Amino acid sequence: MAATGKRISSPLAEELGLEVPIFAFSKAPEVVAAVSRAGGMGVLGAVAYTVDQLREGLDFIEAHVDGKPYGVDVVMPAKYEGAGQTGGAAQLGSMLEQMIPARHKAFIEELLTRHEVPPLPEGTDAWHHLLAWTEETTRPQVDLVLELAKTRPIKLLANALGPPPRDIVDRAHAAGLKVAALTGRVEHARKHVANGVDVIVAQGTEAGGHCGEISTMVLVPEIVDAVGKTPVLAAGGIGCGRQVAAAMALGAQGAWTGSIWLTAEESDVIPLLKDKLVRAGSRDTVRSRALTGKPARQLRTAWSDAWDDPKGPGPLAMPMQFMATADATSRIFRYAGQPGTRAEELLTSPVGQIVGRMDAVRPVATIMDDLVRELHETIARLNP
Ligand SMILES: Cc1cc2nc3c(=O)[nH]c(=O)nc-3n(C[C@H](O)[C@H](O)[C@H](O)COP(=O)(O)O)c2cc1C
Repeated sequence: MAATGKRISSPLAEELGLEVPIFAFSKAPEVVAAVSRAGGMGVLGAVAYTVDQLREGLDFIEAHVDGKPYGVDVVMPAKYEGAGQTGGAAQLGSMLEQMIPARHKAFIEELLTRHEVPPLPEGTDAWHHLLAWTEETTRPQVDLVLELAKTRPIKLLANALGPPPRDIVDRAHAAGLKVAALTGRVEHARKHVANGVDVIVAQGTEAGGHCGEISTMVLVPEIVDAVGKTPVLAAGGIGCGRQVAAAMALGAQGAWTGSIWLTAEESDVIPLLKDKLVRAGSRDTVRSRALTGKPARQLRTAWSDAWDDPKGPGPLAMPMQFMATADATSRIFRYAGQPGTRAEELLTSPVGQIVGRMDAVRPVATIMDDLVRELHETIARLNP
């Protein structure tokens, strides 16, 4: 790690053209553009986007990023219900819809009724049910990203929940992108490398979203030692400059962050939820299958409590849990905060234990300034 002037570098940050080795996952294009403008790398989370929405989001970034590099994150799980099914996304979606048990539908309706959450008004679209949780629905997103990367500074394609398929790795390399993959286990990291992945994001159990059981402190050096020359980014529980410095001390070439951007001024999180996150402490998260069917850290609420209750039906497998609950989620977000409903008690989000430090809504530029300033101070303190 070299620090000269404002610039703090690692070989990976250097190759990607970053001023600071800070990576920011966010599904808000405004956040992605602002992080990249501040010298880090914004990475747009595409899972909630249709292909058309993704194009719009990428157009926004391109118009606001001042030519700085950025990335895109997609979700192609190695394992999910219906994997390998051919016949197109619509057919896969209707097959999976039919597999949702009546017991789960009744459980969801009862939970919403108990919290006085009204149905959606006639003709309102719920969330896009299948989202881009499957290889089938994600490939068109990747096609778009690789096409746009010919003329735009898109430098990184990241994949959650497994290594991306080999043909996508090869196409990304041919288009000049590096491929990153997230993991919480050392054996998965080795498989990612064998599959052609260039950057391993070692994500500890503290992290918001899908995560394993090993803490960042233990996982990062394990993975760094296991993957040799392949660069590793540390993720999970990073929210201040001392934690970025710690990540690099553990052998990572940078910090991969997610939660802290949820309460950025530019984030698309609704104000009521931002407020809940600002008030939450580091003990207020739970690793639960309630959101997607795979274990993911999230704000603990009446929603996760109900799904984790052994007396209930328990969550379905990915991607059916998300599909089964898409209408409910739309209803909760629509009515939260309105008089006559307790929808806000069910309101949740993936978020990590670092939520305990997220105690104000601040612009991305301020969050980045603080991270970098404290990173410099820490390096100076350790190396007087
Ligand atoms: C709201 C939210 C959604 C996430 N969704 C994804 C995702 O779609 N794909 C992905 O690779 N990682 C996702 N993650 C994980 C982040 O990429 C990142 O690894 C994680 O947030 C790092 O830990 P931290 O939350 O402690 O910063 C998500 C995280 C959060 C907080």
